[in-house]
Amino acid sequence: MNIAVVGTGYVGLVSGVCFAETGNNVICVDIDKNKVERLRNGEVVIYEPGLEPLFERNARQGRLKFTTDLAEGIKDAEIIFLALPTPPGEDGSADLKYILGVASDLSKIITDYKVIVDKSTVPVGTSEKVHAILADNLDESLFDVVSNPEFLREGVAVDDFLKPDRVVIGTSSDRAAKVMKRLYDPFVRQGNPVIVMDERSAEMTKYAANSYLATRITFMNEIANLCELAGADVDCVRRGMGTDSRIGKRFLFPGIGYGGSCFPKDVSALGKTATQHGYDFKILESVMSVNEHQKRKLARMIKEHFGNDLTGKTIALWGLAFKPDTDDIREAPALYIIDELIAAGAKIRAFDPEAMANVAKEKPEVTMVDDQYEALDGADALAICTEWKVFRTPSFPAVKKMLSTPLIFDGRNLYDLEAPKEHGFTYYSIGRAVVKAGEVVTV
Ligand SMILES: NC(=O)c1ccc[n+]([C@@H]2O[C@H](COP(=O)([O-])OP(=O)(O)OC[C@H]3O[C@@H](n4cnc5c(N)ncnc54)[C@H](O)[C@@H]3O)[C@@H](O)[C@H]2O)c1
Repeated sequence: MNIAVVGTGYVGLVSGVCFAETGNNVICVDIDKNKVERLRNGEVVIYEPGLEPLFERNARQGRLKFTTDLAEGIKDAEIIFLALPTPPGEDGSADLKYILGVASDLSKIITDYKVIVDKSTVPVGTSEKVHAILADNLDESLFDVVSNPEFLREGVAVDDFLKPDRVVIGTSSDRAAKVMKRLYDPFVRQGNPVIVMDERSAEMTKYAANSYLATRITFMNEIANLCELAGADVDCVRRGMGTDSRIGKRFLFPGIGYGGSCFPKDVSALGKTATQHGYDFKILESVMSVNEHQKRKLARMIKEHFGNDLTGKTIALWGLAFKPDTDDIREAPALYIIDELIAAGAKIRAFDPEAMANVAKEKPEVTMVDDQYEALDGADALAICTEWKVFRTPSFPAVKKMLSTPLIFDGRNLYDLEAPKEHGFTYYSIGRAVVKAGEVVTV
């Protein structure tokens, strides 16, 4: 099939590459000239494990092309995907200007039947808005609009895309549903479902899924905070809960709050949708306010330890990306922690396997180093913000030798209490006892 993907970011690029991988001809369109130039030169502009070999093969074999020209990109396409940004507007609702703008551009250049697929995360009712804009200039027989929310996770996006748990297709057109099923057939050969529903339900499904996951994380963060006060260990609690088949083990890890380009904006946008419909969605308000507090928790712990004045202190920071295996730093808790620590007088030496270049652009005051141990050199404490695998089994003697004091603040509970205890560290983590100079202390 001939496919156009408009918007070549984390979702658009992965989608385009994976559609090409199943034998389709894909043209990715983006307004960012520099990005398109780099992609044309064979540069994979985001870090996403497993993407590069697929990108290289499909570009080399001529199934994957890039352009800044929308008309050229969509000319032969049977399906046009919109993988455009839907950032939070000033009031927290999703800003639809990119989607509606491209819909308007499309209405002026489409000349034969196209399925226009919204892959961005958009509020209930957006398909109808896109339909109305297209219908302003186009005969309705020339297009169908489909909502096809994307559930990929950055860091495992290629696997998620090639083997999705399910594909959701929101459309009231049988013709468009058939085209979409044909496209996705190779991705669900193991029997995972393609669920066809109406457009509004498809749009709601994406917000409901993300908001539920954000709620689950937030619930565990609150349990962790209570564990600290009540003298329980959240790791034990998590295992005790997660083995219940009604609950399940995933998304129960406490930490320093959720971040990224999706959860924060999607929870907020769903809250706005509720308000617009006159519904007071109380849980979402709580989730957002608990998360605001939680993402600064590590900074609070560090400041409290040092009597609230970090003048002259250097904090080594491991992890900047909002989660491991990505270079995405949108809404990363590390950024909030950096701001709080610097405001309290600290200097920061940071290491992240992939996200340093992105953070350096936003926070030039942070010293970036090439190696996780180099970050520790003479620092007064180590703070861990992202659970990259490379941080999981450090040489504790080396860490101790490099730091000026053996002090770790672990926002991701990477270590058993035993290891820091054995090596004489003071070790703070989330929802567990504190280890003070090699002794476990229940707070
Ligand atoms: N990132 C994720 O993990 C993820 C997962 C599921 C869903 N989503 C949703 O997918 C959508 C896209 O997210 P993303 O992370 O890929 O965003 P992104 O910011 O990485 O990419 C968007 C791209 O669109 C381009 N663009 C903007 N205006 C354009 C225009 N008029 N014409 C052509 N290109 C244009 C931008 O230059 C950018 O390259 C959002 O709605 C997001 O909520 C994201």
